[in-house]
Amino acid sequence: MKEKIEALRKDIETAIEETQSGRALYELKVRFQTSLKGIMSGMKDLAKEDRPAFGKIVNEFKQSMEEKFDAREVVVKKMEMEEKYAKERIDISMPGKKYKAGALHPITLVKNELIDIFAGMGFKVFEGPEIETDYYNFTALNTPKDHPARDMQDTFYLAENLLLRTQTSAGQIRVMEKENPPIKILSPGRVFRSDDDATHSPMFHQMEGLVVDKGITLCDLQGMLAEFAKKMFTDSTKVRLRPSYFPFTEPSVEVDLSCSECGGKGCRLCKGTGWIEVLGAGMVNRRVLENCGVDPEEYTGFAFGMGIERIAMLKYGINNIKTLFENDTRFLEQFED
Ligand code: PHE
Repeated sequence: MKEKIEALRKDIETAIEETQSGRALYELKVRFQTSLKGIMSGMKDLAKEDRPAFGKIVNEFKQSMEEKFDAREVVVKKMEMEEKYAKERIDISMPGKKYKAGALHPITLVKNELIDIFAGMGFKVFEGPEIETDYYNFTALNTPKDHPARDMQDTFYLAENLLLRTQTSAGQIRVMEKENPPIKILSPGRVFRSDDDATHSPMFHQMEGLVVDKGITLCDLQGMLAEFAKKMFTDSTKVRLRPSYFPFTEPSVEVDLSCSECGGKGCRLCKGTGWIEVLGAGMVNRRVLENCGVDPEEYTGFAFGMGIERIAMLKYGINNIKTLFENDTRFLEQFED
């Protein structure tokens, strides 16, 4: 019996040391238990008085072997964990996958900057519809049917009285109909005209401004534009007003900024003049105020409208308006901040 136990001990002990996994160790344990059972079943062949001593030996054997199994289990578990860690190790020196983040379009960047500048002067944003009625887009703006100024803004008609708006000025009427002065609004949006060359596109964006209050003069317009020019371009950017004509403003002006490229000396960008035309503006025509139920004896106002593409082209030195609509990422990536 004793020899059998010793033989089993030797056999199992070397086997334990050789196990490399929890699973192998478990299988070995089952094998050991079966062999032990076999040994114990031999007990019935022993003389009665020898049995207690033999039982003690078997128990001690079983216990010592269990300790060996437990000890090996700790080692094997550690080995398994190490192997797992090694397999799952992340090589942090490997270059990562680069995901390209989207960025705001230059038109949106300029639009947001304009809103920031004018919001700082107390303007609120109003957005009008892109499909307008003939009344809001023209008639209420003192441009009745057959007025020659309609020709300059020839557009896309959807029905007899519905058109794609040619100017954000339509929003002036909508605001004045709803709100009483003092009014100070900014109205950005898409507009549409039958125009197509390097500096014009059938669809472009405008930023409209409207201020109506008691005692508003052309000087207020000039002062505000001077402030805008400094913030949008440089501290030394100057503003010049030139007489012009719009049916909905009287007097009307064309506003030039000193050329950002040459500082006013004259270059290719400003065609040698030192000035660049950026927007149309003027004092709101009293007929327009009357059309909206605002008393021109009590209130005066100014309005201006600028092309957002034009400002973006000047600011970023873009020479063809089409590049703003082609969605070529090589072009657009240059504006990511
Ligand atoms: N709506 C005019 C245009 O599209 C610009 C403008 C706006 C002029 C407001 C005067 C006042 O050309």
